Amino acid sequence: MANQPIGFLDSGVGGLTVVKEALRQLPHEDIVFIGDQARLPYGPRPASQVQEFTWQMVQFLLQKDIKMLVIACNTATAAALEVIKPRLTIPVVGVILPGTRAAIKATRNNQIGIISTEGTDKSQAYVKALKARNARLNVISMAAPKFVPLVESNEFNTPLAKKVVAETLAPFKQTEIDTLILGCTHYPLLRPLIRAYLGDKVQLIDSGAETVSEVSVLLDYFNLANLNTERPATAEFYTTAAPEMFDLIGSQWLGMDDLHAQQVHLNKESHE
Ligand code: DGL
Repeated sequence: MANQPIGFLDSGVGGLTVVKEALRQLPHEDIVFIGDQARLPYGPRPASQVQEFTWQMVQFLLQKDIKMLVIACNTATAAALEVIKPRLTIPVVGVILPGTRAAIKATRNNQIGIISTEGTDKSQAYVKALKARNARLNVISMAAPKFVPLVESNEFNTPLAKKVVAETLAPFKQTEIDTLILGCTHYPLLRPLIRAYLGDKVQLIDSGAETVSEVSVLLDYFNLANLNTERPATAEFYTTAAPEMFDLIGSQWLGMDDLHAQQVHLNKESHE
């Protein structure tokens, strides 16, 4: 079983921020990634629909014989993790608790900010998880709905993105937060702009990157780590939309010149 791939899913290219970290921290693990670009953004969708779409991607990944599932999407983690976990016999990891733990470790003044999609913000998943671990934390959660379209259109490094980041994060300047959770896996692509706007005093927590450290622990705990260091690891990418934009952003972000995603069609009938 250790030779089987790890499955990652997201609504789009955001999950690649988690994959990037997996390639770095777990270079001997095979990876299968699927992004549902045809139906993103997930953020504004009702939780029931996010659950349905996520479940379709899970079915796709199970056909690839994955040994572990990483829900590399905060919106899908908030809406579907607890529904999916009991249905599968393999370990299932979401991105919210790893981000929560990292923020609690990082803060010095107990003032934590969160930016996420409307769905994650509405679920209050981060706020509840943080407060359950430390009731004294002051938590300020905000949705940043304009960030995901900037990333998916490959405009995350433009003057427009700089303006949107400044407008969206302005309310945090009136607060004392010393830690900000990037509660959407798309947001690390905007990290340089977020860093430049907020300055060095605010620590940025990349929930996806933190998740890979926990994946590593779980692989060892369940004896699932691929210890065959001789064989080159493989990475397969799938998207539900035309793959051109995925290939462009993915190859830049992951530094893989030969990245070519395959387009797949998900629907209820074929994957249930
Ligand atoms: N990347 C996803 C997340 O972490 C969601 C982006 C979206 O489709 O709205 O929440």
